[in-house]
This record gives sequence, structure tokens and C-alpha cells, in this order.
Amino acid sequence: MASAEPQGIAPFTGPWLRRAAAVALAVGTLSIGALSTTAARAAAASPGTELPRVVHEQGRHALLVDGAPFLVLGAQANNSSNHVDVLPAAWQTLATLHANTLEMPVSWQQVEPVEGQFRFDFVDALLAGARGHGLRVVVLWFGAFKNGGPGYAPEWVRADTVRFPRKRDARGEGLAPLSPLAASTLAADSRAFAALMRHLAAVDARHTVILVQVENEPGAFGIPREHSAGADRLFEGGVPRELVDGLHRTPGTWRQVFGALAEAAFTGWHTARYVDAVAAAGKSELALPMYCNSALSDPFASEPDPAWVSSGSPDWNMIDLWKVAAPHLDFVAPDIYSRDAPAVFAWLDAYRRDDNALFVPEIGNAADYARFFWAALGRGAIGFAPFGMDATGYVNYPLGAKVLDDATLEAFAADYRAMAPHARGWARLAATHAGWGTARGRDGETQAHDFGAWRIDARYGRWLIGDEGWTFVKADVPPWKAEPVGGLAVLALGEGEFLVAGSRVRVGFSLAAPRPGQRWQYLSVEEVAIDDAGRLLAGRPWNGDQVDYGLNLPAEPVLLHVRLGTWQ
Ligand code: DGJ
Repeated sequence: MASAEPQGIAPFTGPWLRRAAAVALAVGTLSIGALSTTAARAAAASPGTELPRVVHEQGRHALLVDGAPFLVLGAQANNSSNHVDVLPAAWQTLATLHANTLEMPVSWQQVEPVEGQFRFDFVDALLAGARGHGLRVVVLWFGAFKNGGPGYAPEWVRADTVRFPRKRDARGEGLAPLSPLAASTLAADSRAFAALMRHLAAVDARHTVILVQVENEPGAFGIPREHSAGADRLFEGGVPRELVDGLHRTPGTWRQVFGALAEAAFTGWHTARYVDAVAAAGKSELALPMYCNSALSDPFASEPDPAWVSSGSPDWNMIDLWKVAAPHLDFVAPDIYSRDAPAVFAWLDAYRRDDNALFVPEIGNAADYARFFWAALGRGAIGFAPFGMDATGYVNYPLGAKVLDDATLEAFAADYRAMAPHARGWARLAATHAGWGTARGRDGETQAHDFGAWRIDARYGRWLIGDEGWTFVKADVPPWKAEPVGGLAVLALGEGEFLVAGSRVRVGFSLAAPRPGQRWQYLSVEEVAIDDAGRLLAGRPWNGDQVDYGLNLPAEPVLLHVRLGTWQ
């Protein structure tokens, strides 16, 4: 019955929400200049006047909203929910989820139904509703490209294939997607997007809108590249110098430089240049942070199957190219519709880069995706948003849930409910400390990560007490043993000091390479709150059964401050 390691317990008795002066975290020590206490206080004094922005330092990122780090606990509405009649269905679901941000399409066809005549009544209703519900908004610009197709372009664009040419296949046949090579399409799309951003500048001084997505998954499946005469000439002309230099490659043809990915790279370059120009036009009116999202190809495929590549999107293997081609985007982002944990981790790792903030603008809304919230959070994500979250009755199974019932919503709501009170503080700490995020894998296997001398492991499908060595008492198999639940996010606050958040996971600690006779112990384990300045507010201490068999995070997520020490 003994636990794996003896633990001496420090006598922590502080009352709930006591400001823990003893906690070794001082806001003044944060290194990102933009996150200084002074900046946070100034912003608090005049909320909504500071333009949201994404800041980076030492490979970590923060989305600043009202001048202070903000964690997007988001939800994306369905594609056809961009209508005033549907907004109540969105507010209802967002409240159930404890979300703080709604991602909502605003389409070219709805703001410019007649060329040159703009209407923003939906945008105004969206902003008013969001403000009334205390929410922020991510506007999704569905312009010339929505999943590669032109469905959200106005009729006057789709009707005029001379002025707004479509892509052509190798036989010269027309394909549905608009060509990003057409200057006339770019000019019209940019003008409409700039008008939208100008309108936001006029009506949204308090920055209800905190982020803007430019186009939506602009690549197309099954169309590696277009084959008009102009496109063929460009393809044969070789890789532009700017791209070769930006990627530090040797000049050559697209095939020489990109091999099997030549056509995807060609399409990616021209699509990214297009998206960048649209973003630039919008930013010249209102410089909100902007990004573009991607459908994702197999992260483990060495030879990509063109049929399963969204050619033109900022896919995981095109991020370098997009960084060169689209400097007006603050980041590119993955849309996750696989439930396979190794693939999800690989995509999250691909988009979490020193030069790219991790943001998950879409992930399936079935309950088994909810655990990946922790995997993203521990990687320092600035936001996360399941897709199709409105009470319209529409579901996108097999990508997401079969039915958006209470249990499905609760899978995400539990995570958001737990993190909402600490969201800004977590965002501040995640921008300045190393982290690890994980979730139950394919077979519930144990996972581990080393932070310096300390190893942290995550085990799944366990009761809250006991271990495999227990033979003296019979135990039922935990009902959730084989279920795709459980996740963990960890921030390393200092030597042997961690913030641990998650649910349905047993968290173990050990020394990665102990010296002979070296042992470890918990100095303290406490439930904590994090205030907006990133200070820990001590709560209920865990001890005895709650720590003797690892830290068993229950179904309702918890946030713990853990301090470890060694002894000989
Ligand atoms: C990804 C797209 O970005 C979304 O707009 C939507 O079409 C989903 N796929 C599928 O529901």
C-alpha cells in the first residue's frame, strides 16, 4: 500500500485565494517587455483602447488584448451561421461552453452583394451581441477562398469568369476554384476586405474583434496546381528569387527545389502571396492580428498523396514557405479533424514554432477531441476552438460530433469552465515559461517529459488511488479506462516547481537521472487560482491519498501548483 516515493509534506494552511507572497513568481521578473505589469495596469485603466497584437519573445507567444495576455477559449460557429437569426443559437452554445470568444464567418457575398455597395448590418449585430454577452470575436473572412472554393464570393464575382478566372486543369477544363493569379480577383477581394476592416475601425474602438482570419483553408484537394497558359509559364520559370533566398535554398525549378511537393509549393506560393496582399489591404485600415488556417495532410507521409493535400493551404509542410510569402500574417494555423493522438501532437508541434504562435482555430467538436485542449495549452497555445458550436442542429460528423448533446458540450465546457477564471494569468505564464501538453494516446500508453532534472509522466485509465501492485483488494476496471479522455498541461515555473492542469490523468514525478541515494518529495501541492498578472493565489492543499499515488486529476479539471525537492 506504500506509495512509490516517501513524501514529506510542508504545512501549507493558507486560506483560499490568499495572495501567496511566498510563491516564487513575481510579475516584475517576466521577461517579455510587452507583458510588463505597467503595461497590464495601463490597459486595465483604459480597457479596449489598445489594439490587440501578437507578441513573441524567445520562441514564446502571447495574444495581447487590452494590453495583456489573453487565452482564446473559443468556439467556431457553423458555416451558414453568419446570419442575425442564428446569433442567439451561437450565444446560447457559447454560454454553455464557458467560452470567451466566438469565431464567426463574415463573407464577401454578405458584405458586398452588389459591387461597390457595402453593408455591415450582420457585423454590427455580431458586435452588439458579443458585447452584450461579454464575448470577444474572431472574424473569419470568407472571401475568394473557402475550402479552396468560391462559394462565399458574391454572385457578381462567380458569374464573371473573364474578369474573375477560375483555375484550369491540364486539359484546359475549368475548375471551381478562382485563380489566385488574377490581379482583378485580388483587387476586388482586397477592396471588400479593406472595407470590412475600415468599418471595424469605425465601430469597434473597444476591440471586440481581437483576431481576423484571412480566407478559409485557401487550398484545394485534388488540384495540385492550375494549368492556364500563364500558370504554366510561371511554373516553368522557376522558383522566385525571393522565395529561394527566404528559404536559404539553391535557385532552381520548382521540381529541383521542392521535389514531390513542387506543385503544392507553387500553388502555396501564389496563394500565400494573394492572402498576404488581402491581409495587407485590411491591415492598412485596421492592423488587427491576422492569420490563415489550413486543412492538414498526413503529418507522417514522406511522399504526400496529392489527392489528400489541400494544395495552396498553409499546411504543416508549407509553413516555411508561408513565412516568406505572407509577412502580413501574424501566424498560420491548423484545422484539426483527426482523432489520432500522434497526428494531433505532430500537427501541434509543427505549428508551435519560435516564429509562429500556436492557435487552433478549428478542431472537431466530438467529445474525444476535448482532451487535446490540454495538449495545445501545454504547448503554449494562444487559443483553441472546436468547430460547429451553435444550437442550429447541424452536425458535421464524421469530422465532429454525431449530435451536439449535453455530454458533448460538457466535454469542452468542463475544460473551459476550469480555465476561464485563470485564462489571462495562464496566458501570461505560458508566454514566459516552458511547457508540456499531452492527452491520452492511441492505447492509453504512459507518456513522459523531462524538465531539467525532473521527469513528469502521464498515465490514463486509473482510479484515483492504488496501482498495479494492489492484489489484496478486487477492483473494477475504471469505466473510462478505454475511453479517449484525459489530458495534461504543465508549465515549469522554476526548478522543481510546476503548474499542472488537466483531467482524467494520473501525474507522476521522478528524478530523470537521480544520483545514488538521491530521493525526492513533494514540498507542497496546492489547488491554485492565477490572477491576471500571473500571480498564484493559494487554495486547498492536497496531501495523503490525494498525492500518495501520483496526482490523480479527476473528471472535473483542476489546476495545481506543485513544488518538489530532493533529499539524500
Ligand atoms: C474545415 C473548414 O475550414 C470549415 O469551414 C468546415 O467546412 C469544416 N472543414 C467542415 O465542417
